[in-house]
Amino acid sequence: MHDIIQELAKKRSAARLGGGQKRIDAQHGKGKLTARERIELLLDPGTFEEWDMFKEHRCSDFGMSETKIPSDGVVTGYGTISGRMVFVFSQDFTVFGGALSEAHAEKICKIMEHAMKVGVPVIGINDSGGARIQEGVASLGGYADVFQRNVMASGVIPQISLIMGPCAGGAVYSPAMTDFIFMVKDTSYMFVTGPEVVKTVTHEEVTAEELGGAVTHNTKSGVADLSFENDVEALLMLRRFFNFLPLNNREKPPIRPTPDLADRLDFSLDTLVPENPNKPYDIKELIIKTVDDCDFFELQPDYAKNIVIGFARMEGQTVGIVANQPMVLAGCLDIKSSIKAARFVRFCDAYNIPIITFVDVPGFMPGTAQEYGGIIKHGAKLLYAYAECTVPKVTVITRKAYGGAYDVMASKHLRGDVNFAWPSAEIAVMGPKGAVEIIFREEKNNPAKLAEREAEYKAKFANPFVAGARGFIDDVIQPHETRKRICRSLVMLRNKKLENPWRKHGNIPL
Ligand code: HXC
Repeated sequence: MHDIIQELAKKRSAARLGGGQKRIDAQHGKGKLTARERIELLLDPGTFEEWDMFKEHRCSDFGMSETKIPSDGVVTGYGTISGRMVFVFSQDFTVFGGALSEAHAEKICKIMEHAMKVGVPVIGINDSGGARIQEGVASLGGYADVFQRNVMASGVIPQISLIMGPCAGGAVYSPAMTDFIFMVKDTSYMFVTGPEVVKTVTHEEVTAEELGGAVTHNTKSGVADLSFENDVEALLMLRRFFNFLPLNNREKPPIRPTPDLADRLDFSLDTLVPENPNKPYDIKELIIKTVDDCDFFELQPDYAKNIVIGFARMEGQTVGIVANQPMVLAGCLDIKSSIKAARFVRFCDAYNIPIITFVDVPGFMPGTAQEYGGIIKHGAKLLYAYAECTVPKVTVITRKAYGGAYDVMASKHLRGDVNFAWPSAEIAVMGPKGAVEIIFREEKNNPAKLAEREAEYKAKFANPFVAGARGFIDDVIQPHETRKRICRSLVMLRNKKLENPWRKHGNIPL
């Protein structure tokens, strides 16, 4: 018995050493933490229950039977974040470059299956050279097994990927199917084919960082949701982020008590919208002044900035915020912003998170680039997402709500539960200038007359009352009472029940 216990201790310390001190030092030398250090920082101290520490690969080709390292390049198990359960896998780059073997994949699949069974999220920390080259097709099978479980878990338990090293080739598709991807600047990258292949095929010269680094995916591709300066910041922010989410699709997110009163008024909002309708203002000021403790966790802040998305709380309850941003492209909806917001709306809907939508949108972005790029189909994604959504939806129109974009942005017609407008709201088919230029085309050479018509149109339609008269707007509210009115609406909607008709699944315009 004593011998076994000694052997256990020996095996554990061997496993904890991963690929050895030299490789751990190399990992640290790159500014990266090891797989186990990352888990320690992510989870509440002392809560990590590790599984399959002694699991080894079964490959015997290329001398592999002599190089078996317990844990086989991935640390798996469960623990808690702020007292709430989560399953974790963390790839160990010091062991075969974190490459995925059949056994490595089995470990990941095991925790995913358990997470599904008990209804808790999975966080995957990716730091891997991809498929274990010595294993060949067994490794490919392992990836596909993980992909299948990613898809089965989608919409059932939140899945979050943290990219903290290489993630290349087909390996990118596991994170791609999770709900959120966070990356670390300078040390992480994701691409389907690396710089060398790119050079051979397209003759483009590009570094790994330019091709698939954190900045690229957070500004150009929209693949990632956030980027952080280093491992420590990423892990600590992920802890904060986790606290917004429910454990699964049958639960509500946790309530965080706040001293911020639900009926807090903010009179500075009364002057947020400029007199001149063409002048921009920062919608984030409204978001921050409305939510609990000014705490807004923005996602994709540097991608498709004409729409703002993220999590916040109202009276302690998690809400998803979607807001047009007049500071960028006048808040127009285009391809990127429609996709960005649509995916977020669907996440909120899947996980019982009410959605607050702030609207100031002059319409969809015109132009050949948008039309050729398929704005019809991509804009439809956002429309579809809002329309199928059954969680509480509260909408506040601050200024423009023109044309099709008015309909799309959580309007009453798409089952918006409570739709407010500020007195500055203009709900119309289009702006007054564009409208009179069309309906009074014959007066186009008479600027004075046209100006008169424009003023007439503005007086008639550029206000919230025409929509109010039809019940499309439930009330016109003072900007300073926005928080109070939203909080009340959310309390009223707490037990909302709405179900879509049974179907295998809808056919969202992908
Ligand atoms: C086995 C691997 C490995 C792999 C790295 N290693 N990748 N072992 N399979 N895929 C090992 C190295 O041999 C080395 O072992 C150790 O990990 C660290 O690697 P280094 O090259 O020294 O590290 P670094 O210089 O930081 O470069 C990291 C890297 C590079 C860029 C990831 O290792 C690399 O290019 N690896 C190959 C990547 C690749 O082609 N993967 C297959 C892609 S195809 P020692 O013993 O020296 O420490 C794929 C398909 C998936 O993934 C399909 C899914 C559907």
